[in-house]
Amino acid sequence: MKDKLKVALITGAGEGIGKHIALALSKEHYAVGVNDIASNQAEATSEAIRMTGQKALPLVADVSKEGEVKEMVSRVQKTWGRLDVLINNAGLFDQRSPVVDQEMAIWERLIDVHLKGTFLVSKICAPLMFKSGGGRIVNIASIAGLVTFPRTSAYGPAKSGVIRLTQILALEWAAHNILVNAVAPGYVKTELAAKLMEEGIWDEEALVKRTPLGRIGTPDDVAKAVFFLISKNADFITGHTLVVDGGWSAYGFI
Ligand SMILES: NC(=O)c1ccc[n+]([C@@H]2O[C@H](COP(=O)([O-])OP(=O)(O)OC[C@H]3O[C@@H](n4cnc5c(N)ncnc54)[C@H](O)[C@@H]3O)[C@@H](O)[C@H]2O)c1
Repeated sequence: MKDKLKVALITGAGEGIGKHIALALSKEHYAVGVNDIASNQAEATSEAIRMTGQKALPLVADVSKEGEVKEMVSRVQKTWGRLDVLINNAGLFDQRSPVVDQEMAIWERLIDVHLKGTFLVSKICAPLMFKSGGGRIVNIASIAGLVTFPRTSAYGPAKSGVIRLTQILALEWAAHNILVNAVAPGYVKTELAAKLMEEGIWDEEALVKRTPLGRIGTPDDVAKAVFFLISKNADFITGHTLVVDGGWSAYGFI
C-alpha cells in the first residue's frame, strides 16, 4: 500500500533554525510548505529541498498579516489537500533597548511577528488540520519566555505569550487530536548568531562557560526536539514547553 502523503508547514523557513527544520522534515519525506517573508529565501530553501527529489512549496507571507496567512494556507490546501504538522518558527531578534528608549514601532513588530503570527497561523491552519484528522503544532518559543532578560520588553513577553498560547491551543484542540507543544531554545548558533559572535555582540566564550553542557546550541539540537514532539513517542504530550539550552536556564550561578 502507498504511504499517505505527510504535509508540514514551517514559518520563517528561509534561514536559520527554520531552514534547518524544513530540510530535516523533507528528509523524512514530508511535503514542506516553506514560508518566509523574504521571497528569495523561501525560494532558496524550497529549491534545496526539490534538489533532493522531495516536495516543497515556497510560500511568501508575513505571518502577522491575516490576508497573507489565509492565502498561504489556502495554497497548501489546494496543493496537497491536508496538513499534518505546523511549526511556528518565524521571528526576529530584539534590539535590546531599555524600556524608556524602546521605539513603539519595534516593540509592536516584535509582538506582532512572534505572538500575533503564532496565533494567526495556528488559527487559520486549524480547520485544515481538523479535516486531516488531527496533527501536531510546535511553536518555537525561547528561554527568554521563561527567564527574564533585561532590555527585552517585547521579545520576552512575546515568547511568554507564545508559551501560554501553546497551552490554550493544546486544551482547545485536544478533542480534534491536535497536539500543541513548544520548544524553548537557549542560545543557538545560526548564521546570524555566528555574525553576532564575530562582532562581539554575543560573547561566545562567556556563553560556553555559562552553559553546563559546555557548548552553544545548534539548529540541529532544536530540530531533534521538534522531531521528538511530532513523533509517536510524544503521543501523550500536549501543552508542554521543552527547554533546549544545555542546562543554561537551570544554572543559578554566575
Ligand atoms: N537563534 C537563537 O539563538 C534563538 C534562541 C531562541 C529562540 N529562537 C527563535 O527561533 C526562531 C528562529 O530564529 P533564528 O535564529 O533561526 O532566526 P533567523 O533570523 O536566522 O531566521 C528567521 C526567519 O524568519 C523570517 N521572518 C521574519 N519575520 C517574518 C515574518 N513576519 N513572516 C515570515 N517570516 C519571517 C526571516 O526572514 C528569517 O528567514 C525565532 O522564533 C527565534 O525567536 C532563536
